[in-house]
Amino acid sequence: MQLRVALLGFGHVGRALAELLLAKGATLRDQHGIIVRVVGISTGSHGHAIDSDGISLRAAIDTVRHNMRLDSLHRGRQLANTGDFLAECPANLIFESIPTSPSNGEPALTYARHILSGATHLVTANKGPVAFGFHELNALAAEKGVGFFFESSVMDGAPVLAVGREGLPATQVNRVQGIFNSTTNYMLTRMEEDDLEFDEALAAAQSIGIAETDPSLDVDGWDSAIKTAILANVIMGADLRPADVDRRGIRDVTREDVRSDRAAGKKLRLLCEAIRAEDGSVTARVAPRHIPAADPLAGIRGTTSIVDFETDVLSRLTIVEHDPGPKTTAYGMLADMINIARGRHLPGYSRLEPHQTV
Ligand SMILES: NC(=O)c1ccc[n+]([C@@H]2O[C@H](COP(=O)([O-])OP(=O)(O)OC[C@H]3O[C@@H](n4cnc5c(N)ncnc54)[C@H](OP(=O)(O)O)[C@@H]3O)[C@@H](O)[C@H]2O)c1
Repeated sequence: MQLRVALLGFGHVGRALAELLLAKGATLRDQHGIIVRVVGISTGSHGHAIDSDGISLRAAIDTVRHNMRLDSLHRGRQLANTGDFLAECPANLIFESIPTSPSNGEPALTYARHILSGATHLVTANKGPVAFGFHELNALAAEKGVGFFFESSVMDGAPVLAVGREGLPATQVNRVQGIFNSTTNYMLTRMEEDDLEFDEALAAAQSIGIAETDPSLDVDGWDSAIKTAILANVIMGADLRPADVDRRGIRDVTREDVRSDRAAGKKLRLLCEAIRAEDGSVTARVAPRHIPAADPLAGIRGTTSIVDFETDVLSRLTIVEHDPGPKTTAYGMLADMINIARGRHLPGYSRLEPHQTV
């Protein structure tokens, strides 16, 4: 199978994906029968390139690394913006990794509608379109017969959504809990292990580049709430927006709070939780919680993340991802592409009709 792919976004994740596509080319061909041709790359400020004969990923990586524009690799009519790029791009699968607005998922949500409406497969690492448009985009993808996959939007390359959706057939997931935000977990770990004040822990996170200058997305719990809404919607069948998640971040946590937890044999963690009630409804919350030190959730240090499923059959199933980053995120996107090539998005993959035989 030949896939014509394009990369919308060529930053840390997009370039890590490009490196992975180069490194895994032979594996994709020999083990999965997939030959990838990159026919388009689009950025915010480094230009756009389309070439239906194929773009050299090495040349594209070098171009952006030298802070030059990709237009030198472009063949065809001039492209003014991302809208032009999407209208012209001959890809049948687009990898999207651009920044998103935490308040409405734009502009990625609009791009996602455009891509899927044109019957092009979409793989995204971006939380925005999933948190704000999962049901709509899923229905659109099904109508057009294409895949809409977003494994990397929660816990990067760990196959958390795949396990929840496909690895637990005929079970009911009653609770999902976890620690999904690396920045706040790193800060809480530093407060606990190095006896830091909140501001000192924030400065430490900023100094190693994991916290933004404006850290509110992380410390006020928005990033965690967005990821919790995604898990609740995708795995538990809920229909929550990030604002529906009962949310409290770690901004008010003090060194004294952390010290008294330590004295009581507990650890403070920003816990994300979605729970199914008796009537089947699902609610979600994010809050700093005092977790007994022996619990696997308390053992999560630094930028490591964890998810814990409780189901009606398996009482507790836990996945831990160590050392997440652009490379692991890129891996989640690569796995999504392979799953689309396998036809995992097609109705017959997940549901057989009663008259069918196997
Ligand atoms: N970094 C991670 O480990 C990680 C993990 C999980 C999920 N994610 C998600 O992945 C996405 C990308 O993260 P990143 O770290 O790669 O960000 P990044 O380094 O800032 O890269 C963003 C890329 O998107 C481009 N871009 C911005 N607006 C665009 C537009 N309107 N049209 C086309 N391209 C546009 C930027 O172009 P210019 O630079 O030329 O302006 C850049 O190439 C985000 O949604 C993030 O939440 C990242």
